[in-house]
Amino acid sequence: MSQQIRSVVSTLPELDDEQFVRWQTLLEDRTGMCMPEQRRSFLQTSLGLRMKEIGCESYSSYFDKVVSGPAGAIEWNTLVDRLTVQETRFFRDRDAYEFAESHCREVSRNLPDGQALEIWSLGCSTGEETYSLAMIADQAVKKGQTYAVTGTDISTFVLRKARSAEYSRSALDWIPEPYRKAGIEPGGSGGIRIRDNIKQRCCFTQVNILNLGAFPLRSQHLIYCQNVLIYFRRWRRREILNMLVERLAPGGVLLIGSGEIVDWRNQNVETCKNGKVTAFVRKQLDTTRETEWR
Ligand SMILES: C[S@@+](CC[C@H](N)C(=O)[O-])C[C@H]1O[C@@H](n2cnc3c(N)ncnc32)[C@H](O)[C@@H]1O
Repeated sequence: MSQQIRSVVSTLPELDDEQFVRWQTLLEDRTGMCMPEQRRSFLQTSLGLRMKEIGCESYSSYFDKVVSGPAGAIEWNTLVDRLTVQETRFFRDRDAYEFAESHCREVSRNLPDGQALEIWSLGCSTGEETYSLAMIADQAVKKGQTYAVTGTDISTFVLRKARSAEYSRSALDWIPEPYRKAGIEPGGSGGIRIRDNIKQRCCFTQVNILNLGAFPLRSQHLIYCQNVLIYFRRWRRREILNMLVERLAPGGVLLIGSGEIVDWRNQNVETCKNGKVTAFVRKQLDTTRETEWR
């Protein structure tokens, strides 16, 4: 924390219990994310710094501002960006990408000509995950076959960065050698850039996981959702996973982070048991016409 921010923080009003619960509830209702007691000081600092920026005196007046009208919606957008954990990197979970690549190869072998391999990266943050998936798809598909990767996130700020496809030079260290040549080129200010042929296969759009019902993506061959559900309550994780199963093509795979769910079953998927990844494969045919969730 810089000296300047530290001195601003020291003048922030205390976030009392009542205000803490109010903000906690708003955040969870609107994003699904839980803000535990241990993160109270993070919440206080984030709210306080934003309040200073816009000249708001108290947590309650800032709350009223955030929940009212179109201006509130714009302010909420900024706040969400400040409160979400956006940590990410290229090829973050090597085992998961290895699994994803072999799945993409298999799908590609069986896809009819002219049909694209479709991948969804949910909670994609600044795009490293989406482009990593695009790089593996690029290598996995048959000659002449195409693919599309959709990156979605709640924060419009991270999506802007994702669309730019520009990263720092140090990001290269995370990209395994075989993908670098086809996927990366020198970028501005000594950084790196995703090559156009990969970038053009990716699109980014704002989607709140809590509003999945309104998002039309269907028949995905791979849904990749890592390090997002960990911030949600268990019952919500189960609900979201059930909705994601519905978005898979028959034989499609849902890949989540290890340990993100332990007690979830859905009769339309089979658990992949290779011990390294948490993946679920959509059965070729629904066992019942009506979907029942266990
Ligand atoms: C820790 S990052 C994970 C990034 C990437 N999936 C990875 O594993 O490297 C979590 C991302 O989830 C996004 N997120 C949090 N709540 C969300 C919601 N309700 N809907 C969509 N995205 C959300 C955050 O904005 C953030 O970019």
